[in-house]
Amino acid sequence: MAIRLGDTAPDFTAETTDGSLRFHEWLGDSWGILFSHPKDYTPVCTTELGAVAKLHDEFQKRGTKVIGLSVDPLSDHKGWVGDIEETQGVAVNFPLIADSDRNVSTLYDMIHPNADNTLTVRSVFIIGPDKKVKLSLTYPASTGRNFNEILRVLDSLQLTANHQVATPVNWNDGDDCIIVPSLSDEEATKKFPKGFKTIKPYLRVTPQPNK
Ligand code: BEZ
Repeated sequence: MAIRLGDTAPDFTAETTDGSLRFHEWLGDSWGILFSHPKDYTPVCTTELGAVAKLHDEFQKRGTKVIGLSVDPLSDHKGWVGDIEETQGVAVNFPLIADSDRNVSTLYDMIHPNADNTLTVRSVFIIGPDKKVKLSLTYPASTGRNFNEILRVLDSLQLTANHQVATPVNWNDGDDCIIVPSLSDEEATKKFPKGFKTIKPYLRVTPQPNK
């Protein structure tokens, strides 16, 4: 069954390029990103994994662990990471799950048979420290994802979790935020010392609280 926002991310044990791990234990109290790619030794996937490796410090700043997955065996993952380092100029610095038995792909509904019967699509799940799924997205095999957008969503989710603000259309880090409707004006006055502007009673904006 498809995984929906707010569901508990299924736990699993898997073989990875960093050894065997139990997912929830590996996540600990961190935020997590689990993403699948269709196949090792393919061009778009090679560029994606290099891009994710280059964002290592950005994920670390956000207290977020990243883990990749495909149905290829561990031996392929271990050979391919050499190609990624050679062609993308960065070592793969996060684990890759070898999901040959499709256990994790099935749990997370990452194989879409009408797109491809055997390979995983490009899925992304952002998982909160409470192990709940906060975002899921699915891209086709032919389109590389924009991992800067994943970082942007992570920032938005963390602002909501820590500061009770939402983020408007095309928001970028540093832009004004929206006060969540569940907060009264009185509570907002206490919570946002920089103040807020009421455009409509349901549309109140405040400078980004953590800047
Ligand atoms: C790629 O990564 O380039 C790719 C993988 C599977 C199907 C199509 C493209």
